[in-house]
Amino acid sequence: MPHKELSISSGWSVTYLRCIKHTIMNVSPPEISHSDLYGILLNSVAPRPIAWVSTVSPSGHPNLAPFSFFNAVCVDPPLLAFAPGLRQPKQGGAVHGEPKDTLRNVRETKEFVVNVVTHDLLQPMNVTSGEYDPSVNEFKLAKVTPVPSRLVRPARVAESPVSFECKLYQILDFSPAPTSSSLVIGEVVSIHINDAHIKDGRLDRNSLDLIGRMGGIQYTRTTDRIELARPKVE
Ligand SMILES: Cc1cc2nc3c(=O)[nH]c(=O)nc-3n(C[C@H](O)[C@H](O)[C@H](O)COP(=O)(O)O)c2cc1C
Repeated sequence: MPHKELSISSGWSVTYLRCIKHTIMNVSPPEISHSDLYGILLNSVAPRPIAWVSTVSPSGHPNLAPFSFFNAVCVDPPLLAFAPGLRQPKQGGAVHGEPKDTLRNVRETKEFVVNVVTHDLLQPMNVTSGEYDPSVNEFKLAKVTPVPSRLVRPARVAESPVSFECKLYQILDFSPAPTSSSLVIGEVVSIHINDAHIKDGRLDRNSLDLIGRMGGIQYTRTTDRIELARPKVE
């Protein structure tokens, strides 16, 4: 296969990448725009699971928002991690990004709940992704039901089949730039599983119609399954 090195300039559409046949484009992150890099990462690191994260402010005001920079990262201790990006500063001249409500709440209260997102919950999940004022209660806006958690203050989403109550383990702040993110790592302290998804005493993975986020505004369902045994190494 011919190998040709090209570098992408900030004006180029990321979709151009897909049109190039039989060439390899090499991209140096510092040389491309933030939006081109964002596009490459989101389009190729996919599908991503979605953490629907509920938090409360120190005064107890509820917040709910989705994050697809998300995964389970350790079983012992049981850790989940998601990455809220920073926002452009509202004050002109400020150079540091501002935290989203979720990050601010987690930093201040050290607790959150991760609710998983099924195909049925696609629309309400999307409603909660608006850049609302902190005073907005996204549970009400999305018409989903808050249920008190067992060990943390934020409520879980009743309609989600699996919810993880988490206590803050660590926050990694990568840069104060408005284009950067922080990684929030939480230790799972309690798990709720809807009985409809329990079979023979275990979580029935085949009954969960989870969705994943692709690039742009695309999502994928996880109902198309492939079974593949791992190689046995003697
Ligand atoms: C499916 C989906 C996934 C998202 N993933 C992220 C993410 O990983 N990081 C992020 O900063 N924003 C993400 N967003 C955008 C946030 O949900 C949005 O900024 C929201 O307003 C944050 O709410 P908050 O200010 O209440 O925390 C995502 C949006 C959607 C619809």
